[in-house]
Amino acid sequence: MSQKTYKIAVIPGDGTGPEVINEGLKVLAAASKEYNFQYESKIFDFGGERYLKTGETLKDSDIEELKKYSAIYLGAIGHPQVKPGILETGILLKLRFSLDQYINLRPVKLYNANFCPLKDKSPSDVDFVVVRENSEGLYKGMGEFKDKETKNEVAIQISYNTRRGVERCIRYAFEYCRKRNKKKKLTLCGKTNVLTFAWNLWERTFNEVAKEYPDITTDYAHVDATTMWFLKNPEWFDVIVTDNMFGDIITDLGAMIQGGMGIAAGGNINPEGVSMFEPIGGSAPKYTGKNVINPLAAICALAMLLENLGEVKAGQAVEDAVIKVVTKKLKSLAAGKMGYSTQKVGDLVVDNL
Ligand code: IPM
Ligand code: MN
Repeated sequence: MSQKTYKIAVIPGDGTGPEVINEGLKVLAAASKEYNFQYESKIFDFGGERYLKTGETLKDSDIEELKKYSAIYLGAIGHPQVKPGILETGILLKLRFSLDQYINLRPVKLYNANFCPLKDKSPSDVDFVVVRENSEGLYKGMGEFKDKETKNEVAIQISYNTRRGVERCIRYAFEYCRKRNKKKKLTLCGKTNVLTFAWNLWERTFNEVAKEYPDITTDYAHVDATTMWFLKNPEWFDVIVTDNMFGDIITDLGAMIQGGMGIAAGGNINPEGVSMFEPIGGSAPKYTGKNVINPLAAICALAMLLENLGEVKAGQAVEDAVIKVVTKKLKSLAAGKMGYSTQKVGDLVVDNL
């Protein structure tokens, strides 16, 4: 029987990225033995260091090479010596856009009530998924200055929403909600009362697509109210679909109620192409090289990557191992307070696999 060999592109990136990715790769090696799949991985050095040396972020030829991979595993992008915006747009957003990873999937799942900042909330209360549109909206980079650097200066930043872009995202969310098979409730999170062009299109599209999913309960919440419900009644949510900017903002709040950046993972998904998985926390320069950063977000991203490849059992096993470590071992999910080093936490996950 010939067995498929997955090709995994690894971009450790900046700051604590390489440290957490190392732990993820340890878990990947163990999972491949345990669950009997083959893979090869290649490390790519995109990030701040390379930019400072060569002035390069990501070339079109790099994108072409990445298209040959089964998945991308990313650590973090962001370097204190590089002006904000260059690496973010030149690497992270360029990857998302060029590979048309139009979904940013961000599970918000509490594993241990002790690590939840909300009073009286347990793991069954904080268990939802945000489907963030990942290719349009305010992230499109459209806009202009008028009369720049004068007293009359105007800066325009456009939220660009296409029917096709909105519909494919909403459709993905309905399908995901059905497959997830929990509360079967999909909430559209928007701002129909103020952003009357963009959210009118979103709302119309949502209501039309909803007719094809009679088994899914639908709901709508303004984005400001959504942030309030996250703290007050997180148990109301099952799957949330929203645009790029709102999704960015609410998933940082989501990360906090699931225990912090140390555990929050996400997938940039192109259902028809190459997807990329990352811890959502960033490069954490302050903790770099100290062996104190929490690698579990990166390990949870690996679990999502495995599931995306079709190695569902392996992905589930990695998540289960993380749950054991979070419920039985760690004192905290925060960097430097876990009671173990970065590497030891990686070892604990491997031991529990
Ligand atoms: C995220 C990050 C990025 C975003 C930044 C680094 C460009 O905050 O993945 O949420 O805004 O999407
Ligand atoms: Mn963000």
